Amino acid sequence: MSNSTPQPALEIIGRHSLNGEVKISGAKNSALAIMAGTLLCGDDCRLSNMPCLADINTMGQVLASLGVKIKKTGSTWEFNPRDLKAVKAPYDLVSQLRASFFVIGPILTRLGVAQVPLPGGCAIGSRPVELHVRGLQAMGANVIIEHGVVNASVKGSSGRLKGANIFLDYPSVGATETIIMAATLAEGETVIKNAAKEPEIVDLANFCNSMGAKITGAGTDTIIIQGVSRLHSTDYEIIPDRIEAGTFLVAGAITHSEILVTSINYDHLIPAIAKLEEIGCRVLREDETTLRTIPGALKASDVETLPHPGFPTDMQAQFMALLTISEGNSLVTETVFENRLRHVAELKRLGANIKVKGNSALVCGVPMLSGAPVMATDLRASAALVIAGLAADGKTIVQGLQHLDRGYENLEQKLQGLGAKIQRLPHYQP
Ligand code: EPZ
Repeated sequence: MSNSTPQPALEIIGRHSLNGEVKISGAKNSALAIMAGTLLCGDDCRLSNMPCLADINTMGQVLASLGVKIKKTGSTWEFNPRDLKAVKAPYDLVSQLRASFFVIGPILTRLGVAQVPLPGGCAIGSRPVELHVRGLQAMGANVIIEHGVVNASVKGSSGRLKGANIFLDYPSVGATETIIMAATLAEGETVIKNAAKEPEIVDLANFCNSMGAKITGAGTDTIIIQGVSRLHSTDYEIIPDRIEAGTFLVAGAITHSEILVTSINYDHLIPAIAKLEEIGCRVLREDETTLRTIPGALKASDVETLPHPGFPTDMQAQFMALLTISEGNSLVTETVFENRLRHVAELKRLGANIKVKGNSALVCGVPMLSGAPVMATDLRASAALVIAGLAADGKTIVQGLQHLDRGYENLEQKLQGLGAKIQRLPHYQP
């Protein structure tokens, strides 16, 4: 009898093909940044197509702790940041959610002072924030990091940040978002060079512009922000989650199934679709917002993660699961995060043949995986283990669902809707 406390787990009976259609939710990584962006406005903001996720709730708590009034109606959240007073984000929440560090830009540019705990590292890497800090310093912020807290204040009597030319050493998504938000209410023009180009950056810029900001060039490596003195209320719809959509496309491919994935944005998925087609699964564009997977023989293909529009690091684990049963040898190289191959050991428990060297993994395709109990180590690793379980012979038990629930809305219900044999065991004891 093990002495570990019972934990929720997913039980999957593999080797069942999927069919039907699945609707994609709003994008976690867009909603998180845009929620921080509501702090820029002294008026109401309504966000629709909000995903129901643990991380979104945590960000809601961070905003509420700063004085924002929040009302939820289904997937529409109403934010009233009129009484934003507190400048310090609570450590207990920031330590749960790295993205809550994104509040530093909006608080500083709106109130002139911000105190945000360093988010610290996580399972996939050390996740430093020096590019965020350097961007704020370039706009005239005085930054002192002590006792694990980033203390930022605006120099000078105007209390406003000043526009600046900022070159990012690396096209960091988070640093680009922090600088965009800080520059929105700064005096003058800010130019970000070597900016991140992810769709979530474009969504944040579109959200700010819908409140009256002046941002151009989002989605390119040069973003220009003309600071304005104040912003007005807005109603804004969050883009679909391209990573959730990609995860379902891979679920269709690995189970050799024809499924429909709806409420997607095609352009955001081009890197993932191109790789799927290379591996042998065709993806048809059914209409503007719907894709159909057409199963085919799976063959090896090399994958190298890169900033957008390169292959997304958030899809690396799911594609590795697919390549474990694709004929031939594939080299998977993770270049964005230094510790994002932890799912390899668990995939090997399912019978995969993978050798790791540095930040690369050589995946030698095997005819079939066999079900086993496995442990998720981070968000996308958990999705990869669920996908592998759908293809494996027999029963797979996926533990560590606290990772999965951070970023996938109702994953098992959506898979059940596609005919998967999957259920959540609330009190699983290994
Ligand atoms: C965002 O993280 C996403 N998170 C990540 O998704 C995603 O993997 C990542 O972008 C890359 O696409 C959210 O949007 C909430 P980065 P972020 O700054 O902003 C280094 C998921 O699974 N770096 O582009 O933290 C950093 O350590 C999550 O949904 C510095 O060195 O990513 C990393 O190696 C995981 N200094 C690389 O850059 C800095 O100041 C990319 O990080 C900032 C980053």
